[in-house]
Amino acid sequence: MDLQVDESGRLRHLLTIEGLAPDLITAILDTAGSFTSVTERSVKKVPLLRGKTVVNLFFEPSTRTRMTFELAAKRLSADVLNLDIEHSSTRKGETLLDTLRNLEAMQVDMFVVRHSQSGAAHFFAQHAAPHVSVLNAGDGYHAHPTQALLDVFTIRTRRPDLENLVVTIVGDILHSRVARSQIHALRALGVPEIRVAAPATLLPRNVEEMGVQVYHRLEPALQGADVIIALRLQRERMRGAHLPSEAEYFRYYGLTPERLGKARDDAIVMHPGPINRGVEIASEVADGPRSVILQQVTNGIAVRMAVMAMTLGSRGGEPR
Ligand code: NCD
Repeated sequence: MDLQVDESGRLRHLLTIEGLAPDLITAILDTAGSFTSVTERSVKKVPLLRGKTVVNLFFEPSTRTRMTFELAAKRLSADVLNLDIEHSSTRKGETLLDTLRNLEAMQVDMFVVRHSQSGAAHFFAQHAAPHVSVLNAGDGYHAHPTQALLDVFTIRTRRPDLENLVVTIVGDILHSRVARSQIHALRALGVPEIRVAAPATLLPRNVEEMGVQVYHRLEPALQGADVIIALRLQRERMRGAHLPSEAEYFRYYGLTPERLGKARDDAIVMHPGPINRGVEIASEVADGPRSVILQQVTNGIAVRMAVMAMTLGSRGGEPR
């Protein structure tokens, strides 16, 4: 059974991009487009989720994702609760399932879940009551679907001709749920050439089976690229030594103005954040004219509004 989509093809949960119909992805991006005007108004609210309750459950650190999920829910007029995991009963040994059941007993309508375990959001969706939606805000190495959606939204805003683009993803692909979700989204939307550039120790085994071209040197991977996505070294997910040192990593894989010169003149530079200046990206590039890094953050609000409205809004008047 497809947990994400109901019999009529509507989005019920958002857990992963993998397997989502391209039409549905496009519909999310189009809906997000209609919400950007809301976020630019002086009164940034629409009543779509009035009376609904959204709970943010972030078992891992987050700045952008958590804040923009919260803002998105508030701009849709939902009530938002943030469980402070450090001070919650999780620390007293409560299981995920019991946490879910207890929050459901408070008549919650949506869970936004970030967890270090791959599959955590899926687990929530499997056990959630029928009227409840679950959105994955990042699970382990597995998926970060709203990040990939806001990334393709940002690309599409700048370069609507997705079927002509060369996209290069550089950095720690091995530990990156963002890269996995981006690759699925870019492929679904017909991007013909997706390159990944990283040392062999930071690439998943058989990554080419995802439909990407593998480069071990950055310069050729940047040649003629339209979009460059830099990723952080996700040290908290590394077990053992994957790298000699950050300085050495920057020497070979750091996105510098000089290396950026290999890409197309109008290429855009993206990063999901948090950025580590002088490790995967030079400040001149992060803050430079090609960078759309902060626009990604802004777009995250409209994209998360779209996903929330499409999952919960479609079930508006249904009885519990
Ligand atoms: C990413 C994440 O947490 O997966 N950040 C984000 O959500 N914007 C990437 C990262 O941590 O490097």
